[in-house]
Amino acid sequence: MFNFFDNLHTGKKSNIAHLLNNPKFSLIIHDICTPIYLEVDGIFNLACPASPPKYQEDPIQTVKTCFIGSFNMLGMAKRLKIPILLASTSEIYGDPLMHPQKENYWGNVNTIGPRSCYDEGKRISETLFSDYKNQHKVDIRIARIFNTYGPRMSKKDGRVVSNFINQALLNKNIKIYGKSSKTRSFCYVSDLIDGLIKLFFKQKYHLPVNIGNPNETSIVMLAKKIIKLTESKSKIIYTKAVVDDPRKRKPDISIAKKVLKWEPSINLEQGLKKTIEYFI
Ligand SMILES: NC(=O)c1ccc[n+]([C@@H]2O[C@H](COP(=O)([O-])OP(=O)(O)OC[C@H]3O[C@@H](n4cnc5c(N)ncnc54)[C@H](O)[C@@H]3O)[C@@H](O)[C@H]2O)c1
Repeated sequence: MFNFFDNLHTGKKSNIAHLLNNPKFSLIIHDICTPIYLEVDGIFNLACPASPPKYQEDPIQTVKTCFIGSFNMLGMAKRLKIPILLASTSEIYGDPLMHPQKENYWGNVNTIGPRSCYDEGKRISETLFSDYKNQHKVDIRIARIFNTYGPRMSKKDGRVVSNFINQALLNKNIKIYGKSSKTRSFCYVSDLIDGLIKLFFKQKYHLPVNIGNPNETSIVMLAKKIIKLTESKSKIIYTKAVVDDPRKRKPDISIAKKVLKWEPSINLEQGLKKTIEYFI
């Protein structure tokens, strides 16, 4: 039986419409900030808005989801003696001073900026997970996820891939916030899911693991690729940088390769084609 908790803050029922009649699937509309008592065999804690405009809409709720939500899920894992995985993030590295980012890098994060509710929220989630492991022997996993995209991502959530595809399909200017040198490393959703499942079923590894695609690309290159793939007439324009937006992002995935025997298999062009098909 698969119990899927969601408060539908950024999620949509239509994304899981094909599962709703499956007797082995149960949707429970629930906010993880409220405790819940169920019998389950394992927990994937992915609840949390991930797009900056969405997590900044209600920053206190974002922090509550990361702290109180993780606390409630860890309590359930402790009571039931089951494994629990945290969807952490590359944002815990902040604006990184190490490149590429390895798991032993402690990060460069602003505690009081507009992104702090998410960045620091995920950092406290990691701390709680680690403390539950050390103090109560809870069987934890921590996945540090780097920018992920793909079909069923919300078309209007304000992330760079969805913004650029929308703008390109409408032949509107593609807006890049800040400098042309800014980079990200984009991982296709099926690669991420494969990595999360491998991590969840990996016994006795409790340290954080970067799950992302190490093929770093500049944001300008991303825009150019999307313009080409959509055969758009859009032009690229530069606007004011967003506060605390990291300049670079690239995972070192040596640990995932060694411990999980995992690495991504879908390249950016293949992934973008599938995502654009979904957006059309
Ligand atoms: N997509 C990425 O690039 C990325 C990168 C790093 C980490 N992550 C992490 O992976 C997870 C999933 O990301 P996503 O891109 O699917 O985000 P998303 O915003 O599309 O989905 C988050 C889901 O969590 C639900 N949710 C939010 N707060 C909740 C709460 N308090 N109780 C119950 N449900 C709640 C939302 O309704 C939604 O269905 C998040 O934890 C995110 O921080 C994602």
